[in-house]
Amino acid sequence: MYKEQIAAATAHFAQILEQQLKRVERMKQEDTFIDFQELPRIVIGIVGGDGIGPYIAAQTQRILEQLLANEIRAGKVELRTIDGLTIENRIAHMESIPKAVLEELRQCHVVLKGPTTTPDQSADMPNIESANVSMRREFDLFANIRPVRVPELNIDWMFFRENTEGEYVLGSQGFDVTPDLAVDFKVTTTQGSERIIRAAFEYAKKHGKKRVTVVTKANVVKTTDGKFLSIAKQIAAEYPEITCDDWYIDIMTAKLIDPSRRSDFEVLVMPNLYGDILTDEAAQIQGGVGTAGSANIGTKYAMFEAIHGSAPRMVAEGRAQYADPSSLIKAAVMMLEHIGYNEQGEQLQMALDICSQFERKVKLTGRSDGATNEAYTDYILATLENPQLADVYQRYLAEAVSKTDLA
Ligand code: IPM
Ligand code: MG
Repeated sequence: MYKEQIAAATAHFAQILEQQLKRVERMKQEDTFIDFQELPRIVIGIVGGDGIGPYIAAQTQRILEQLLANEIRAGKVELRTIDGLTIENRIAHMESIPKAVLEELRQCHVVLKGPTTTPDQSADMPNIESANVSMRREFDLFANIRPVRVPELNIDWMFFRENTEGEYVLGSQGFDVTPDLAVDFKVTTTQGSERIIRAAFEYAKKHGKKRVTVVTKANVVKTTDGKFLSIAKQIAAEYPEITCDDWYIDIMTAKLIDPSRRSDFEVLVMPNLYGDILTDEAAQIQGGVGTAGSANIGTKYAMFEAIHGSAPRMVAEGRAQYADPSSLIKAAVMMLEHIGYNEQGEQLQMALDICSQFERKVKLTGRSDGATNEAYTDYILATLENPQLADVYQRYLAEAVSKTDLA
């Protein structure tokens, strides 16, 4: 029965295995992390992307121009605009990242990227891979790091999402064996798991965190998630000062909204798709996906982005200028810290917290009854200029903490 179809599927599968085994070999040769302090000049690529992307990217760029004014003037930092990573151009080339754009991206040390539209096959769009997924793979950006903080609720989470494997790595290479049978793949490797889990533990150690939580569905997805979990347990044994607990993804989604438990979680590490889902949920608790930033880190390159999509509905309804730029600004904070501009990163984080969590003088609603993203960015820029920024921030933080103490 179906001999031909099975033979074709088997051949396709063999190709996939070859490709993945080569990837494993490449990972075995992994080099050490680039040292940005040693570079005479850091090139930051700025990619607008699709939909609301160019709007929020332009605002984030204004902030970087102010914060890094001296470095830009001295030629130590260059902000370089990269066009062409748009859905129209990608469809015209039938490439998830057109070659010329990829080349330009390669010339940058780090990239700040607005959201890009992901073609959905069921919506009659061509089968082009998500630009995010391609970029993460092309530049081997294996760690997707997503912080979520709500001081008033005593929430301070750091998510480490594996970024190059799982259901994503072969997301565009599943196939219909027959018109009735569709197959996709999930891939987990030893090297891929080790590097993200180790990154989470190293982060915990460096920042004095007491707990690392591993999230899988190893009771059902036994081989791949089972591997991830058992590697996590091995690595945890090297960090006796850190407690390692493991949860299944379903109950984890419940615990994130359990007020009596959620603030116990500190650093969380998980395979790709669970990280995708869980970080949207976490971001919603913080105030919406529009408020959460994300770092995609590899040993050589890094890309920083919002965690949300391009919001085509907002653009179609003429509301793009009201889109919240906070997510990309948050990503810029992470970028500044990654490239060694810690002081500027900290200042921007404080200004963002004051504007979005504490003071809230300018409110965004995503509609014309709220502020534009330009007005909101003006507010952040003005907050940054306050010489008392750190004191103001500490005062608000102390107030917030005392509220949680009373709660
Ligand atoms: C994210 C996004 C992407 C993902 C999409 C756009 C492919 O949802 O960064 O979380 O699923 O990783
Ligand atoms: Mg997502």
